[in-house]
Amino acid sequence: MISEVIDPTTQYITKIDVPIIENNVNNEKFPEDKYKKLVIPSDIPLNQIEVKSLNKIQKKFSKNGFQLDIERSRIILYLQSIDFTAFEKYITELLDAEDRTINKTLFLDMINEIAKIKSYGIKGKKRLYVTYNKERKVEGRQSKVERRGLYYYARKNNFSKKNNDLPKKVENLIINSDSETVLKQLPDNCIDLIITSPPYNFGLGYDTSKDGVNWERYFQKLFSIFDECVRVLKYGGRIIVNIQPLFSDYIPSHHIISNHFMEKKMIWKGEILWEKNNYNCKYCAWGSWKSPSSPYLKYTWEFLEIFAKGDLKKEGLSKDIDIKDEDFKKWVVAKWSIAPERKMVQYDHPAMFPEELVKRALKLFSYQGDVILDPFNGVGTTCVVAKRTNRRYIGIDISKKYCDIAKKRLKEVLPGTD
Ligand SMILES: C[S@@+](CC[C@H](N)C(=O)[O-])C[C@H]1O[C@@H](n2cnc3c(N)ncnc32)[C@H](O)[C@@H]1O
Repeated sequence: MISEVIDPTTQYITKIDVPIIENNVNNEKFPEDKYKKLVIPSDIPLNQIEVKSLNKIQKKFSKNGFQLDIERSRIILYLQSIDFTAFEKYITELLDAEDRTINKTLFLDMINEIAKIKSYGIKGKKRLYVTYNKERKVEGRQSKVERRGLYYYARKNNFSKKNNDLPKKVENLIINSDSETVLKQLPDNCIDLIITSPPYNFGLGYDTSKDGVNWERYFQKLFSIFDECVRVLKYGGRIIVNIQPLFSDYIPSHHIISNHFMEKKMIWKGEILWEKNNYNCKYCAWGSWKSPSSPYLKYTWEFLEIFAKGDLKKEGLSKDIDIKDEDFKKWVVAKWSIAPERKMVQYDHPAMFPEELVKRALKLFSYQGDVILDPFNGVGTTCVVAKRTNRRYIGIDISKKYCDIAKKRLKEVLPGTD
């Protein structure tokens, strides 16, 4: 307890005759990770009335996770949470009632400084100021993760950890054949990353393959190719499948495919929404108009399902990372807004994915020098981007015409230009 008195000539405190709050407030008691600290300076030393008022405020709001450190010419606020509306009201009323000498700016500064800082959420009427993670921290997180069983469906796999080199004769090659046949000839564990967009079975007019067959036949063929993909992937390798369900047939292809990979003990690494912003679909072409009878949901996006073989981490040298800081920050947000490919007429293919989509996937999930495979290569978008970003590639498509276009595109690409 400090005892001071007012200097009658100045009205300012030389000795305070009211207790400065005895809560031993200091940085140790209110560490930065648990309290937000705000310093409110005063041009002139605090007077007795101001100190009394501050003590009242402290008493009123201490239960809120609010502490005051009153010093001679400044006050320090330590905040965990506060009912800001009540705080603002209380101070305003206090100032209105106070007709004696009081530095109102000091009190208004308190309100303004608190208003400026970002709160991390609301609990009841209180705004929370300590970090979001701290507030939401799960006690014993690690043991809970173990109890739940991290990617339990992918445990007890028989994947070999021994990776093999891709045979030189197929490196940087476009192969015109059925993927299942070609992949069967490749060794196990020789591909770093697969990115592909299979036919969606919508009934598109591809050059050679028949699109729009019985769903069971479709998935059977798709899975025989995907099973080979899993086999040829390196331990730690990834497969990214761009897929659009056929909503009008009520076939959730993305779930059916994901389920298959999980049955094959692949780890679901995540899903990216490819937002195409194509709002041209009709409101009721397939369902009811303005009626709950059967409203049809509209989708302006496609999916990228990402699976890892054996390990979520992929080995690589830091010199081979080619993603920029800013891009990394943007692309890990798993919703990518990218316009659909505009060169489909030029390349005479009905269902290309855009180069930007492949570029992001390659830079985010693979290293330079990695081997990239596309078993539904079309006119070679994957291979073009792989070459441009200094990766090796292998592209397979059943159509000779598409393979020829892919080869022509690749001739025009200079490595290291992206
Ligand atoms: C959606 S397209 C891929 C387009 C590609 N992403 C692009 O940007 O050019 C699917 C491709 O799979 C090919 N395809 C269909 N069945 C195949 C099979 N069994 N083996 C290899 N390719 C096949 C089709 O010819 C078609 O070009």
